[in-house]
Amino acid sequence: MAVTLRTLHKYRADKQKFSVLTAYDACFAQRISEAGIDVMLVGDSLGMVLQGHDSTVPVSVADMAYHTAAVARGNTGSLVMADMPFMAAATLERALDAATTLMQAGANMVKLEGAGWLADTIAVLKRNGVPVCAHLGLTPQSVNAFGGYRVQGRDEDTARQLIDDALALEAAGADVLLLECVPRAVTAKLVASVSVPVIGIGAGPECDGQVLVMHDLLGVSPGKPARFVRNFLAGNDSIEAAFRAYDRAIKDGSFPADEHCF
Ligand code: KIV
Repeated sequence: MAVTLRTLHKYRADKQKFSVLTAYDACFAQRISEAGIDVMLVGDSLGMVLQGHDSTVPVSVADMAYHTAAVARGNTGSLVMADMPFMAAATLERALDAATTLMQAGANMVKLEGAGWLADTIAVLKRNGVPVCAHLGLTPQSVNAFGGYRVQGRDEDTARQLIDDALALEAAGADVLLLECVPRAVTAKLVASVSVPVIGIGAGPECDGQVLVMHDLLGVSPGKPARFVRNFLAGNDSIEAAFRAYDRAIKDGSFPADEHCF
């Protein structure tokens, strides 16, 4: 059965973990979907892993639509989430145009990076039938403002702000939250404060779902892997087996482990 937004909410209600993995083309999308991964994220990380940029800032809506359409063609039952790229939600008009393009390309949900200030945009997208995931914590499109890829919410004030933002985004209608690079203890409080599913990357096992960039999972990204990454191809004899092992490890609670957390 195809995974839908209702499936993710049922997972949360049933305390069942779910798996999310980035996908960028039809061939890998088919393998990922057939491996039982619940959600395929067409991430703007494609700017780094496919296009070779050093950040996601150069990625356009046209790039995202091209890859979303390819993933949708390969999909066999996962939910397809597509990233709104840098500045795509800077004004309401831009957000509506970008979301229209991505949904018409085959996305089932869009993901926006930002905090409480996105509430109005999310409310309008929701009114127009667009499911929304709000990405909080380390939001890579703001790497220049952060001065690097840094763990967020490390002190009491920023941790409180993260939880307030999560509550504001949920109240505005966000269907799902995604939390990146946040100390595990902060994640635990945030997850307990909201009622929508929370996907984590470097945010600890308390999240309802986990996401990784596919190239990190396969150990082919250049440079030293981030703390939260596990290479699932190591010890498995095929890419398909690595995808299945990732799905299993999330669902049996063995990933992420302590060594992947902040
Ligand atoms: O673009 C992406 O792949 C993402 C994940 C890192 C969550 O946003």
